[in-house]
Amino acid sequence: MRFPDGFVWGAATAAYQVEGAVDEDGRGPSIWDTFTRVPGAIAGGDTGDVACDHYHRYPQDVDLLAGLGLGAYRFSIAWPRIQPDGRGPASQKGLDHYRRVVDRLLERGVTPYVTLYHWDLPQALQDAGGWPERDTAHRFAEYAALVHDALGDTVRHWTTINEPKVASHAGYGTGIHAPGVRDLALRDRAVHHLLLGHGLALQALRPGGNTLGITLDVSPVLPYSPDPQDVAAARRVDVDSHRLFLDPLLTGRYPVALDAVRDGDLDLIAAPVDFLGVNYYRRIYARAVPHGALRAEELAPPGLPVTTVGWPVEPDGLREVLVMLRDDYPGLPPLFVTENGAAFPDVVAADGSVDDPLRVDYLHGHLLALREAISEGVDVRGYFVWTLLDNFEWAEGFAARFGIVHVDYADQRRVPKTSARWLGRVARDNAVPP
Ligand code: NOJ
Repeated sequence: MRFPDGFVWGAATAAYQVEGAVDEDGRGPSIWDTFTRVPGAIAGGDTGDVACDHYHRYPQDVDLLAGLGLGAYRFSIAWPRIQPDGRGPASQKGLDHYRRVVDRLLERGVTPYVTLYHWDLPQALQDAGGWPERDTAHRFAEYAALVHDALGDTVRHWTTINEPKVASHAGYGTGIHAPGVRDLALRDRAVHHLLLGHGLALQALRPGGNTLGITLDVSPVLPYSPDPQDVAAARRVDVDSHRLFLDPLLTGRYPVALDAVRDGDLDLIAAPVDFLGVNYYRRIYARAVPHGALRAEELAPPGLPVTTVGWPVEPDGLREVLVMLRDDYPGLPPLFVTENGAAFPDVVAADGSVDDPLRVDYLHGHLLALREAISEGVDVRGYFVWTLLDNFEWAEGFAARFGIVHVDYADQRRVPKTSARWLGRVARDNAVPP
């Protein structure tokens, strides 16, 4: 089961989930620093204050990744390290840190894939209204330009925004993520300004022949039951979660009217990208809810195997999503699977090793599905596992372990799990066992 020559194999992380060191080198507060202080917001009352201490331990972590045989590292830059207040000149200390990370990667032969926004908005910008404010999109483009000025000579692969849907819908709709707002009108404004921020940032990043893209979370959406209400709910969830982002980016039109749109915005948003990142974890099952703002629940039907966070394990959904994108969006740019992985209750054995057969099975199934999509003609250029290290899983805190490397949070020891060695072999062979 070989993959195309040059296929990229990597692992992904995100700044707030791994770095810690939240008060160091002039970093300003982000909305996640604030939100993790809200009683009851995060399981176990966990915060990203220390997390995996990756801010200090990145050299060893990069060596670990390279040693496994993975050739690419997708990581995000913490905006509040670059602009502590979300505006103004760049902090040299912040830029220097990421310059060192990039240098380490290059020394070890690992290609950096930089994400500019993985949800850690500077708190000062939230105080000014956050993503529901149009100005935030302009601030984001300014920040993108600062990072590009500093790293553009060596970093070729840039992702503007990771999962704008989660940033808007969980941050401003359900409020289960920072900044914890529950207001559907603000949520819709956040959607548009995240996408506008992407479009404006593309212009800032374009000089220098870079490879630019955005990453979306995409799942097949199915009705929970054949009940027409559930069928309608599934259609709503699909529009609300996917078409609301895919359509403007790839066709220049929203599937619904959004008040915040101004003349010219959609031209910016639909400007060509060099790749689309796809994060895939699960199929979504939608059930109609009689009352309440959400209008649909997402529940796994009984009988399916599920991960720690309750998501059903359905590898073929990855193939379905990739084929759907190819079929529904003519002119689709090349794809990368920028995230795929699973949380399971890993056990550390008496000898300190961590055997995770469920995660190996999960990855194996999904890679076979990916290989199948490629043989069906979908242009997929690379695969990044989520995630390199067990880390701060947002509202779930540290309880959900998604890493291929186990982290002992008491002493920060890293132990590669069986899945890390398994994926490293796949990467070195550029082939997945049948
Ligand atoms: C998507 C997000 O980008 C990442 O931050 C998160 O940890 C994983 N999904 C798992 O939920």
